[in-house]
Amino acid sequence: MSHIIVIVGAQWGDEGKGKIVDLLAERFSIVVRYQGGHNAGHSVQIGDRSFVLHLLPSGITHKDKTCVLGNGMVIDPKAFFEESDRLAEQGVAVTPERVMVSARAHLILPYHRLLDHTSEERLGNERVGTTLRGIGPAYEDKAGRRGIRAADALNAEVLRARIERNLEDVNRIVAAYGGQTLSVDEVFDQTYPLVERLAPFITDTTHFLNKAAREGRTILIEGAQAALLDVDHGTYPFVTSSNTTAGGASTGTGLAPHRITGVLGIVRTYTTRVGEGPFPTEMLAGEAELGSLIRERGREYGASTGRPRRCGWFDAFATRYAADINGFTSVALTKLDVLDALDEIKVCTGYRLDGKTIESFPAVSQDLRRIEPIYATLPGWRTSTEGITELNDLPARAREYVEFISKEIGVAVGLISTGPERGQTIMAGDPTFNSWLGEGLSAAP
Ligand code: GDP
Ligand code: IMO
Ligand code: MG
Repeated sequence: MSHIIVIVGAQWGDEGKGKIVDLLAERFSIVVRYQGGHNAGHSVQIGDRSFVLHLLPSGITHKDKTCVLGNGMVIDPKAFFEESDRLAEQGVAVTPERVMVSARAHLILPYHRLLDHTSEERLGNERVGTTLRGIGPAYEDKAGRRGIRAADALNAEVLRARIERNLEDVNRIVAAYGGQTLSVDEVFDQTYPLVERLAPFITDTTHFLNKAAREGRTILIEGAQAALLDVDHGTYPFVTSSNTTAGGASTGTGLAPHRITGVLGIVRTYTTRVGEGPFPTEMLAGEAELGSLIRERGREYGASTGRPRRCGWFDAFATRYAADINGFTSVALTKLDVLDALDEIKVCTGYRLDGKTIESFPAVSQDLRRIEPIYATLPGWRTSTEGITELNDLPARAREYVEFISKEIGVAVGLISTGPERGQTIMAGDPTFNSWLGEGLSAAP
């Protein structure tokens, strides 16, 4: 069976998608990103070499894999070349022979970054805490039917005319808030040379992917951000501007839903969040020290912006919701080793609002701020699990924790991650997960 698997973050991002995509890429022929842009930061560690991918799929270090930036993405050409130049310095060539950018993907231009800044400043205390990379404004232009797609930009006249039309509005907004306006020439001059350099990468990736699917090639579709940052299903308005969930993989690649054969949720054994927005299980006040311990042990600082990540307990209620909306057929459980130092571990198994237990994940972020989590407390194992590769070598209490999480979210665990490196991985024995990998996986670097 030729598998087409989607990998999705199950929480608020940074679950370790990069590590898992890099690890599984060995067994797939094509790796595709389907949404978001360089707001993502996906870390890959191979021995003592580390990479952070923002726009390029995390399969890029595998030299024989084709990497696709799908139509659902928003691509900043400047960020694309900064990333590919950095990869070239690290010995990974990013060439049109194996990297394709969808002709239908939208471009992020300098005025999108400007609008992102302006919007966040306007919001003040209500700000989203975006990555300020122009992601939201670029998706606004896409939905507003004034966006500039990669293929449109190849024509200099079209590009200039669209920049001119769009800047009229952008400059009005920016000027109203006392910001520095932009000229058509400066935006065009900054953009067009990069688009010319991008030209050999731009192609009809929808056609390519459908042909590949018909030929039975295996495809790994890599999500960025995560379920609770989805513009429809997440903690709106504290979300990103794309459909991060598995459904987005279909619209963001042009591969029909029935082509997708499995959905792997990446679930961290605790929760983090970067930026603003409700976070029911956040370690605050009395637990701030625990939060710092997790932040330091898990090196929880943004891979894109360097911001400290807010840390909290595992939220099984929210992750059950993520399992529903994505249809996880298996999950990879990451960063188990980070919890090695804890005496007790809390897991949120339900939500209480106004003194009543609720059944469904609240739609209103103000309600989410008032949630009283219902916690179960499990004993810690207080011994190192770092780098363990066999399920049987895990301390009994760590195994119990994994089983508890799996039962709470109602999905089998296919893989457990015990460190950032490829090899620090346990195959957990889920037949569905194993069936995606054919001959099995050699986690060796
Ligand atoms: P992503 O955005 O989901 O790809 O995740 P990030 O790369 O932003 O953040 C995950 C961080 O945790 C990275 O620094 C990884 O190298 C690291 N990491 C991944 N898996 C593990 C693990 O099992 N244990 C530990 N200690 N670190 C991990
Ligand atoms: P990966 O793929 C964590 C958050 C931002 C902000 C909100 C909107 O590495 O998991 P945006 O710039 O997208 O408009 O910001 O979404 N955010 C992320 N948080 N991991 C990410 O990506 C994120 N990408 C965006 O912090 O709260
Ligand atoms: Mg990240």
